[in-house]
Order: sequence, then structure tokens, then C-alpha cells
Amino acid sequence: MAGVTAGSSARRKVTVIGAGMVGGTVAQMLALRDYADVVLVDIVEGMPQGKSLDLMQVGPLVGFDSTLIGSNGYDESAGSDVVVITSGIARKPGMSRDDLLRTNMGIVRSVTQQVVAGSPEAVILVVSNPLDAMCHVAFEAAGFPRERVIGMAGVLDSARFRTFIVMELDVSVEDVTAMVLGGHGDTMVALSRYSTVNGVPITELLTPERLAAVEQRTANGGAEIVGLLKTGSAYYAPGTSVVQMVDAILLDKKRVLPCSVLLQGEYGIDGLFVGVPIKLAAGGVEHIYELTLTDAERTALHTSSATVRDLVNAMAAIDSGQTAASA
Ligand SMILES: NC(=O)c1ccc[n+]([C@@H]2O[C@H](COP(=O)([O-])OP(=O)(O)OC[C@H]3O[C@@H](n4cnc5c(N)ncnc54)[C@H](O)[C@@H]3O)[C@@H](O)[C@H]2O)c1
Repeated sequence: MAGVTAGSSARRKVTVIGAGMVGGTVAQMLALRDYADVVLVDIVEGMPQGKSLDLMQVGPLVGFDSTLIGSNGYDESAGSDVVVITSGIARKPGMSRDDLLRTNMGIVRSVTQQVVAGSPEAVILVVSNPLDAMCHVAFEAAGFPRERVIGMAGVLDSARFRTFIVMELDVSVEDVTAMVLGGHGDTMVALSRYSTVNGVPITELLTPERLAAVEQRTANGGAEIVGLLKTGSAYYAPGTSVVQMVDAILLDKKRVLPCSVLLQGEYGIDGLFVGVPIKLAAGGVEHIYELTLTDAERTALHTSSATVRDLVNAMAAIDSGQTAASA
């Protein structure tokens, strides 16, 4: 059977593991950027190959020269500059939280080990859920420095926060910035004091009641979409958030973005992946910013990071064959 071959290319290479809804969106958005070749990897036979070929055929229509290759293995991914991990399964009816954690741990660990063998210099972006816990798994499996294993959550959560601020104030998205901290999930901390409309903190523009409602809707942002879709979860904004991070790395943009990174004492948190603002550039994490927080904000951050600690403990228990009662 004739296949698509890589040819010779001096372009940067991005491997996307998991060619599902988020992975497919990342591949499409990256191809439109036209600065990198994309390798899509999935365990489902034919699916990443089919999606890649379909996306290649968009090239002549919109004018990109990126090559997309689908694979069920890792040979084609060798030499990747960035690896995006979206592989995993969603929780199925009757499945316990531990079962899901065990399954996704196994998937993320196995794909990380396989991909880093051929791409030892890559920056890894983790997307699979539970996000901060999966960052720990990828970090340990890769053996990379903390600068090169980064979780995508804050970029999406802050885009959701910005969207709801825009809907509330009827202003341009271009003027709205928003900051979030903490683990990915409903304990996420929407930092209104550091969120602005062209420099004006939103605390000056919204009543405390509206502010609380916007923060709450942001924390519930993923669940709201799951509730509407009924099958599956969000993928357009998550995929676009990943691509913003790939841009920052491959174009060395030095973007300041909230991302999940391994904290080693910053914010009084040690040894946990938690969402904080970082400078994202060619080598991955270039700087971790420590914001001054109020007592309430710091407490909320520590409450959120405690949920990550619980998952890390549950994973350690799973690894040592015990039942993770705390999960
Ligand atoms: N971090 C975030 O903010 C965020 C946002 C959205 C989704 N997510 C998470 O991203 C993940 C992907 O979401 P989705 O909607 O694309 O799901 P999906 O089910 O559409 O895609 C997941 C893909 O992973 C593949 N896969 C499973 N095991 C694999 C393995 N061992 N090797 C290679 N591929 C494998 C599946 O075949 C599937 O195609 C989920 O864990 C989801 O919860 C995270």
C-alpha cells in the first residue's frame, strides 16, 4: 500500500500522541501554522494515518507545506522538538477513580518511555487527565529536567476566564487578560486581582457577586461543556491552548502563561506539579514567577495543590500494589 513518506525536511517536528479529539485539533491547528511537521500517534490502527492524510489534503486548499504522518509506532517521531501527550481514556460508567487513574498512568508512562527514546531533547507538553498527576507520571518516565515537562491547563482555564469576563463586560477579548493558579479542576484558583481589562483590574469593573459568578463558571468550565456534549469533553479550546504553548516554544516567544510545572519550593510548595505563571520559551520553562498573594489566595492555592498531592499519593499506592483509600 502506498503511504505518505516524510521526505526530507528541515522543519521543526511536533509529535502528538493520541489522535483523538484534542490531538486531532492540535494537528490541524499546527498544520495551519505552517512551521512544523506533525506526527500523529495512536494505538487505533489506521486512525492516525487517516486523520493525517485527510489533514495533508487541506494543504493545497489553504496553502501550507507541513507534512503530517500518522503512525501506530514511534519510529517516525524520532527527533521531535515538542511532544504533546493527549493519550488516555475517559472515565466509563462503573469505573472507579482509581481504575481511571491506574489506566491513564499506565498509558502516559508507556507512551512517554517510548517517545523519549527517539526524542531525548524534546519539550513534553502533557494534556491527558488528571492533568497535574499525569505530569508527574511523564516527568518520572522521561527523566527530563523539570524545564522540559509542562502541563497544559492554565492556558485553557485563563482563556475560559477571559471569555466569561468578555461576556460579562461586553469588551474586546484583545483587551482582557486573566490569571489562574493551582491544579486543573474545580479547585483551580481564578485570580481576579491579577485579571484586567487593558490594565484595569476586573475587581474595579465587576460587583463582588458577578466576580464570584465568573470565577465559579471558570472553575466549572470543563464540566459545563461535558454536560452539554454528553459524550466527550472540550477539544477546540484545549487544542488551541496547546498550540499557543507550542508557538511559545518553537518560536521562542517567551510568553508568560499559566502552566503546570514542578514546583521546588516556589509558593511554599515542594515536589508537586501545580499551575503557576511561567515564562515559556525555546528550552521550555525559562522562569517561574512568584506572585504576591493575599492570605485567601494563598490558602486557595494550597487547597488546590493538596488535591494534586492526594492523586500523587494515590498513584504511589497503586504502584506499590495497595488500595488507594485516600483517592
Ligand atoms: N489539560 C486539559 O486542560 C485538557 C482539556 C481537554 C482534554 N483533556 C484530556 O486530554 C485527553 C484527550 O482528550 P480527547 O477528548 O482527545 O480524548 P479522545 O478519547 O478523543 O482521544 C484520546 C486518544 O488516545 C488514544 N490512546 C489511548 N491509549 C493510547 C496509547 N497507549 N497510545 C497512543 N494513543 C492512545 C485513544 O485511542 C484516543 O484516540 C483526555 O485525558 C482528556 O481528559 C485535558
